[in-house]
Amino acid sequence: MYFIANWKMFGSLNSLNSLHKVVNFFKSFKKKKLVKIIYCPPSTLIRPMSKKLKNTNIIVGAQNCHEHENYGAFTGSINSNMLKNVGAKYIIIGHSENRQFGETNKLINLKIKSALKSGLKVIFCIGETLKEKRKKNTKQVLNKQISLGLNKVKNKNKVIIAYEPVWSIGSGLIPKSNDLFDTINFIKTKIRNSKVLYGGSVNPKNIIELKSINNIDGFLIGGASQDPKKFIDIIKKTYN
Ligand code: PGA
Repeated sequence: MYFIANWKMFGSLNSLNSLHKVVNFFKSFKKKKLVKIIYCPPSTLIRPMSKKLKNTNIIVGAQNCHEHENYGAFTGSINSNMLKNVGAKYIIIGHSENRQFGETNKLINLKIKSALKSGLKVIFCIGETLKEKRKKNTKQVLNKQISLGLNKVKNKNKVIIAYEPVWSIGSGLIPKSNDLFDTINFIKTKIRNSKVLYGGSVNPKNIIELKSINNIDGFLIGGASQDPKKFIDIIKKTYN
């Protein structure tokens, strides 16, 4: 199971001081062979975090990149090679918080290709809005996001899907278990052999319900991942 921490635009050098709690927990966790922990901090913390997590089994990833894998005159941007260079092994692409500000399926496709070319593994986010859900368009939306996002992507085995309904992110709401099982299954028929994670308001309480949905391969955790205690609790409870 994957447990991916998405710190979003949170965190300073001081925030790294709490990581030892997670490191110590993971060191002595009996089921650690079943678990992959990936921390995706803001780009400013990738290097120092990688140093801090050296010689642990915890991996560092990035949250987004520019679509060009080479250097260029793109003020304020960072490409996938540069992220790899400072220690990222994974990268989140297609998060709804970026789609919302104009990231299209086509742009996401270019970013995925450039990230894979740089040797990063991709955490590819998809999900429907509340409006789309109400119109019962969820599968249609996901299908489009998957087929356009992964258009002509060769190394699909290096892509993990994170299903994140937009209405569940940061809202405290999660899908009904039956719906979630059904949606995850649908995604798995569209992209075979890929891990499919769930993300959106995962916390130490609702993990009890979420872990019982047996086709989910892990969780992408936003808010709760900033608190090491909550993050550890989520992992512990998944295996209780
Ligand atoms: P959340 O965020 O856990 O705070 O809802 C999840 C995400 O945006 O990846």
